Amino acid sequence: MGKKSQATWGGRFSKGPAELMLTFGESVSFDKRLAPFDIAVNRAHTAMLHHVGLLTRRELQAIHKGLKIIEKQIADGKLNWNPAFEDVHMNIEQALTKIAPEAAKMHTARSRNDQVATDSRLFFKYACERILSLLQTLQKSILKVAETNQSVSIPGYTHLQRAQPVSVAHHLLAYVEMFSRDVNRFKRLHDDSNWCPLGSGAIAGTTLPIDREFTAKELGFVDAKGKPRVTTNSMDAVADRDLFLDFGHACATCATHFSRISEDVIFWNSTEFGYVNLPDAFCTGSSLMPQKKNPDSMELLRGKSGRIIGNLQSLYTMVKGLPLTYNRDLQEDKVQVFDSFDQIELCLQVLAGTIAGIRFNKARCKDAVADPGLLATDLADWLVEQGVAFRDAHHGVGAMVARAEELKIPLNQVPQKDAETIHPKLKGEWRCVFDLDRAFNSRKGTGMPGPEQIKRQLNRWNKAYGS
Ligand code: ARG
Repeated sequence: MGKKSQATWGGRFSKGPAELMLTFGESVSFDKRLAPFDIAVNRAHTAMLHHVGLLTRRELQAIHKGLKIIEKQIADGKLNWNPAFEDVHMNIEQALTKIAPEAAKMHTARSRNDQVATDSRLFFKYACERILSLLQTLQKSILKVAETNQSVSIPGYTHLQRAQPVSVAHHLLAYVEMFSRDVNRFKRLHDDSNWCPLGSGAIAGTTLPIDREFTAKELGFVDAKGKPRVTTNSMDAVADRDLFLDFGHACATCATHFSRISEDVIFWNSTEFGYVNLPDAFCTGSSLMPQKKNPDSMELLRGKSGRIIGNLQSLYTMVKGLPLTYNRDLQEDKVQVFDSFDQIELCLQVLAGTIAGIRFNKARCKDAVADPGLLATDLADWLVEQGVAFRDAHHGVGAMVARAEELKIPLNQVPQKDAETIHPKLKGEWRCVFDLDRAFNSRKGTGMPGPEQIKRQLNRWNKAYGS
């Protein structure tokens, strides 16, 4: 190539592109993965062309037969992807035209602009379905560990300081909530992807008598009642990259969630915490220090979240300054979207695998949660029940904590006379609050870590994600 003019758009050119420009401008190296969607689009588009009388039955049959052959060549890795033909669309068209010259009519009434927009929407529908199924597996694996560890308690933290006791189940169910919001996000995205832009042409539709609803139906762009869904502005349809941004965002939020759970697990797994043991299969050792077992899967998940968030930033930066409609910048949008998808696909499986193999070290958890200081708030609540205003109760318990620190004793062992000096209402049975069962059983409200609530939530989520 190089000197000859380009085969598909070269009519108005006297010289072909420079070798460097070919290398610079090609996208087939990364967009060839759109091939299954591009072939589906070719099938539907040509069926429509025949339906409106722009292709004969014989031409349609020849094209569809050829598409089958190309499909098989691609599946067998036998199609020779040629960067000189720029992208997946032109590679498929060129290869097809060689075996079925009738395919010279295939690009009637369409442009690569509406074609790539349509391929992408099919890709997003597929990607959302795949991610939704992986999220389901992940949820199941978190729910199982939560269920097994309902009776194990650990300190919950704010500012990474021990705050109040929670059950492991309650802590893990917080992540089930987060990932279920991801599920909702990807479901919405699937629905938003379900509109067919084909027929928008390069920018202003076509003068030919096409049937957009026909193509939309063929490609499954239909509502719940089977009614076709087609986009309603040809300029927006080819310029719009909202789905790319939304997909990038949904991936970035999901990655943020798995980064946070990873961070928790990394802490829990440290020698200092010692709450969990991680499965060997998802850890690695040190090449120097023989004693090490590092939580690599969790660290990589945390690291990859940075990359996935970065992809979103790239997409926004790419789109924000573009005038309507299609600009070649947009060819780059696939790199980030594919990368985020591939990484999310890997990450969700690695997270599910690691969580499934996590074991809680009950003795260490019991020790950590036995700190009576964790129930200081419960003591303030107890004082409130004795008629003390919360602010005074908070102040009094604060003084108790200070006294315990001074005497170097646990909070529940502050001598009675000191307690009464601090607050006259600290008579009676105040030490009864330092009992974990009491602490949990009194937390009955929706969303609290009491055992009845945990059972209810586990039930609810098990129904949603089928254990
Ligand atoms: N490979 C191109 C892309 O992904 C297809 C659209 C090309 N359109 C054009 N006018 N050059 O953006």
